[in-house]
Amino acid sequence: MTIKPWVIGNWKMNPVQQKATALVSELVELVQANDNIAQQCNIALAPTMLHLLSVKQQLQGSSIHSVAQDVSRVSGTGAYTGEVSAELLADSQIEYVLIGHSERRELFADDVTNLTAKIQNALNVGLNIIYCVGESLEQREQGLAEQIVLQQICDLASAIKNDDDWSKVIVAYEPIWAIGTGKTASAQDAQTMHLAIRQGLAQITEKAQQIAILYGGSVKADNAAELAQCSDINGALVGSASLDAQGFYQIISAFAQAKQV
Ligand code: PGA
Repeated sequence: MTIKPWVIGNWKMNPVQQKATALVSELVELVQANDNIAQQCNIALAPTMLHLLSVKQQLQGSSIHSVAQDVSRVSGTGAYTGEVSAELLADSQIEYVLIGHSERRELFADDVTNLTAKIQNALNVGLNIIYCVGESLEQREQGLAEQIVLQQICDLASAIKNDDDWSKVIVAYEPIWAIGTGKTASAQDAQTMHLAIRQGLAQITEKAQQIAILYGGSVKADNAAELAQCSDINGALVGSASLDAQGFYQIISAFAQAKQV
């Protein structure tokens, strides 16, 4: 089964409004100039919550999806200052959400309890989730990388009650030591982990062969082609390189070319 790749730009807490507008315009133009690219590769942007709806509006008519960077562990509406629930995202026709990014796990107390609530809230209202996993440098050096990542996959599995919901899941493997550091996992190491993740998923769901597993961590135009060659790498979650439309477009092209569907 061929998986159509995904290249998702995670803007994190960037950029200012004017730059965001210019970045989206430039990217839309690049994508529209090549009819085929969106057929070969799913493209998405995850702006800040502040810019999510204006970016979505600007993307209307293009094939580029909008993604929320997070969702509340609280569902519905109510007195929860600063929170945005899955229901509110769905109400604004946002279809995708990142859950469990390592920055949220490390800096914003996203532990398993919170993540379970977030996953369930998102799936309950029909959102698609991009669930992030990854080990620290220390864990890798201790030979624990696979164990840690597979435990994070088990945490995801425990949160999913309905097997059909696996069709709404994308997994992103992002070794923490490769995020924003300029160090990428070698294509070989990334492929080894992606295969382990797929094998782990296969023990949980029959949909494992259809789940896109993206690599993230210093993906750039010049390393994307090599990563895209790996059979179990179905796309990329791109941080800093997604803040440059040309560079981001080159990453999209690399995956579109390598994974002809
Ligand atoms: P990076 O970030 O590409 O800047 O390393 C990736 C991510 O954290 O999603």
